[in-house]
Amino acid sequence: EKGTYAHYMLKEIDEQPAVMRRLVQEYTNASGELEVDEEITSKLNNSDRVYIVACGTSWHAGWVGKKLIENLTATPVEVHVASEFAYDMPIISEKPFFIFISQSGETADSRQVLVKVNELGYDSMTLTNVAGSTLSREAQTTMLLHAGPEIAVASTKAYTAQIGALAILAKVAGVVNGNENAVAFDLVHELGLVANAMEVLVNQKEIIADLAQEKLSTTRNAFYIGRGLDYFVSMEAALKLKEISYIQAEGFAAGELKHGTIALIEEGTPVIGLITEEVMGSHTRGNLKEVESRGADTLVISMEGLEKEGDNIILPKINTLLTPLVSVIPVQLLAYYASLQRGLDVDKPRNLAKSVTVE
Ligand code: M6R
Repeated sequence: EKGTYAHYMLKEIDEQPAVMRRLVQEYTNASGELEVDEEITSKLNNSDRVYIVACGTSWHAGWVGKKLIENLTATPVEVHVASEFAYDMPIISEKPFFIFISQSGETADSRQVLVKVNELGYDSMTLTNVAGSTLSREAQTTMLLHAGPEIAVASTKAYTAQIGALAILAKVAGVVNGNENAVAFDLVHELGLVANAMEVLVNQKEIIADLAQEKLSTTRNAFYIGRGLDYFVSMEAALKLKEISYIQAEGFAAGELKHGTIALIEEGTPVIGLITEEVMGSHTRGNLKEVESRGADTLVISMEGLEKEGDNIILPKINTLLTPLVSVIPVQLLAYYASLQRGLDVDKPRNLAKSVTVE
């Protein structure tokens, strides 16, 4: 089923524009409006706080989900790593709503939390790619990703589908509540632009492969930096690079780098900056200058309208709330090519399984 693709990961990266379009279709009703199961939106809207619980890439999608839900529903959101939450539960609000994000729906760390949440009688939902999976069966409600099977260990299309689905959930719940931001947000149109932008980027494979060769072929470590949503994508970018290229990588809040970690920058250390938002982005540029003056080899991924001469990858312009859906594409491809160029097993990296069913 890989067809002409050498690896599932590349096929799954390429599928992302279609996955975005399918997701919108799946959640559009007969009158052309976005629709989510009423039980889910009312549980969210009746809650005083949302708790997102997940692991790995799904946890990274959760951070973007926090931004979307807070912006479009005005409900505060906390994002937690499942394995920590299970044994060190924070103080829970009066009326919590739990969202478990899991591509496989089988992750033991997340299930451990769900078992406790069920014992405590809290409302819950699982956002998963697998209908009938354990987390889907055991939560009260489910939203599906409709991304099609994801085979490569490195998650790509599930991440973008998770963010797309969380945007749909936030928009619909917000509209039900009459939230002004949600009402004004033309999500169907914006996700259409996202799908087009993804298409532009997946067609830049040669440029990105060359950048991987130039910046990542011999390095032992690398940094991704950004602020706000770009920080969340930096964490995901670093995980992707680590797990398939074995380059030690860190995703960092750009402003925090100078508080210690900048000591690791040496002549030639790759530092990749993500810039999709004007004010925060100009500060990230300042941080890139700081590391350049200490010898870093920088690579800049910026959004159309914010680009500067010398930037390496320009992202087509899309809505500021949805930038992770497009900024993640080049970093997925950078990880893919870094792994390929090192002759590693892209789809099945060492020490890892597709779903982690032990705690
Ligand atoms: O199936 P899940 O979404 O629950 O899996 C969570 C993580 O194990 C998963 O995202 C992992 O981090 C991936 N290998 C990342 O590419």
